[in-house]
Amino acid sequence: MYLIEGILNHKQACALLFVSVCLWGSVMSARQATAAAKTRHGSWQQHPADAVERGRSQFLKKCAFCHGREANGGSAGPNLMRSAVVRHDENGNLIGSVIRDGRPDKGMPAIQLTSDQIMDVVAFLRYRLAESDLRSPKEPGPEYSGAKLLIGKVEDGKAFFYGAGGCSACHSPTSDLKGIARRYPAVELQAHLLYPQDQHLRATVLDSSGKQYAGVIRFLTNYDIAIDDDAGWYHSWPLDAIKLELKDPLAVHRQLLPKFTDSDMHNILAYLETLK
Ligand code: HEC
Ligand code: HEC
Repeated sequence: MYLIEGILNHKQACALLFVSVCLWGSVMSARQATAAAKTRHGSWQQHPADAVERGRSQFLKKCAFCHGREANGGSAGPNLMRSAVVRHDENGNLIGSVIRDGRPDKGMPAIQLTSDQIMDVVAFLRYRLAESDLRSPKEPGPEYSGAKLLIGKVEDGKAFFYGAGGCSACHSPTSDLKGIARRYPAVELQAHLLYPQDQHLRATVLDSSGKQYAGVIRFLTNYDIAIDDDAGWYHSWPLDAIKLELKDPLAVHRQLLPKFTDSDMHNILAYLETLK
């Protein structure tokens, strides 16, 4: 019990037990329900407070933008307190695969976290679940929908695109982004914007004779590298025979997420939505 008390005080812990019993009571006998509540507490003991805190800061960096700071829903992701995946998760088995694989076609990108980081996020979500069951077992959280995303101002989004956002250095509404709003629904468009899927890492290679090659990496191991150059030719070298420079065209995007304010994001989406 002492570990739970690290997170909740004794009265809250008792109230939680009561809430669990109530929630399950309708489908189970009181004895089964008490056993279920105990199992829940049992699994908590593996998630002490420091894992919850590490998970919280990971969640704020990688997930809160869409799911809200408290995981109870944001403009681009559902309320995880009402998610069957979260509720039925055991030690990360369900949540882990959603994080690792994402649901790219539904607006949930695959997110790279180590298994330890995933377990921390799981600990945080469990903690939040208990906390929100305590506070408001029945109260529905805010809903998310594509419509809520599109509350930005087109003109401000356009100004951001050509100005502070720096987007026009790499993109143009009349070439690569032409028709982007037709390619993806709004929620998906936001996921693509935050986590573009194209992972074409580029490399420039200077071989021993001083000749330079540039292209997209086919593979890169500890010993060798292979690229397709811009004319489409395949080349490979042992790493110790060349000078190598890597270029990650998506590096800029990885830095976008923490820089965007919510209103920048809404504005830019409103603007991109006009590119039909
Ligand atoms: C770009 C927005 C976005 C980000 C960032 C994001 N999610 Fe999601 N997430 C979504 C959307 C949208 C869905 C709903 C997908 C669907 O309808 O199946 C979802 C679904 C989920 C689900 C499944 C919910 C259910 O019951 O089906 C879990 C669990 C989840 N996200 C956890 C996370 C975690 C943890 C992170 C951070 C590591 C994260 N998400 C980051 C948008 C996002
Ligand atoms: C340094 C170059 C660079 C900058 C700056 C940049 N991007 Fe990108 N962007 C890319 C690359 C590279 C990709 C991935 C390749 C692709 O899909 O075209 C990409 C992908 C995207 C996609 C997904 C396209 C798709 O078809 O899936 C969107 C949307 C996007 N960027 C919007 C923006 C916006 C909005 C900004 C400004 C806030 C911005 N980008 C800033 C280089 C950049």
